[in-house]
Amino acid sequence: MRGIILAGGRGTRLYPLTIAVSKQLLPVYDKPLIYYPLSILMLAGIRDVLIISTKEAIDQYYSLLGDGGSFGINISYAIQEAPRGLAEAFIIGEEFIGGDDVCLILGDNVFHGQNFSSTLAEATKHNVGATIFGYSVKNPKEFGVVEFDRDLNVLSIEEKPARPKSSYAVPGLYFYDNSVVEIAKSVKPSQRGELEITSINNEYLRRKKLKVIPIGRGTVWFDTGSPDGLMQAATYVEVMQNSQGLYIACLEEIAWRSGFISSKQLEEKGRSLAQTDYGQYLLNLAKTGK
Ligand code: DAU
Repeated sequence: MRGIILAGGRGTRLYPLTIAVSKQLLPVYDKPLIYYPLSILMLAGIRDVLIISTKEAIDQYYSLLGDGGSFGINISYAIQEAPRGLAEAFIIGEEFIGGDDVCLILGDNVFHGQNFSSTLAEATKHNVGATIFGYSVKNPKEFGVVEFDRDLNVLSIEEKPARPKSSYAVPGLYFYDNSVVEIAKSVKPSQRGELEITSINNEYLRRKKLKVIPIGRGTVWFDTGSPDGLMQAATYVEVMQNSQGLYIACLEEIAWRSGFISSKQLEEKGRSLAQTDYGQYLLNLAKTGK
């Protein structure tokens, strides 16, 4: 399975923060925002990743993450000329996806929780059709909203409905089989002029191939597209890391635990960042081996 991080857009809801800086490079406590969605792809076992961003920002993502070698993965890069919608990711990424299945994650989405890795494993195993998630929120109108019955049959999915049919928002994490490329090409722009991911999901629903996994208590999801979301995510990471001493979205740790990099590589990276708590954390992992 291949992974795409969509990290473009104008970030207008965060102006003036994002006038000169791409949103997904902003800090969430001690790491750039893009580390968090990348960590989710890695936890799903995905090692081939495409980062899509704007012409202005793409080089900065390369400076930050390079070819992915230091995390034991392959990262390639592509430009989205204008924010024409999330579904365009599959058109831009067509060649990268090839004949494979694909997972899309939005560059501003942060997930964390016990057992979330097993939820991801469940989603990667289901390789026919599409898998989306449902996350109960207080303000469903601001998101894609999924309605489902007790047996988890999806009944409807709507983009930012005025009258939501459920309280379950669809977070920006989607798993698709290869037909997503063909479906994306047939999607027409919505009223707001975008190629909507919800149109893709509706097509899978029409084909009776849309599966929803509700995310339960104990897992958090933040859409960090607003100052409040960004602040809440940062506070959460700070509280969790400092109370447990366990890092969230530490890419080298995930790579090492997944067997993507060796203890020696982990130690070298730790040494290069030794002046920070992050570097000391890596050095400690390499030293204790657990
Ligand atoms: O966060 C989850 C929500 O994301 C879903 O519930 C909605 O169904 C989905 O449409 C999307 O809604 P948003 O209105 O929050 O999407 P937004 O335009 O903020 O874009 C999400 C991220 O994708 C953001 O980091 C910018 C990036 N983006 C967006 C567009 C439209 C791109 O890189 N390119 C684009 O063309």
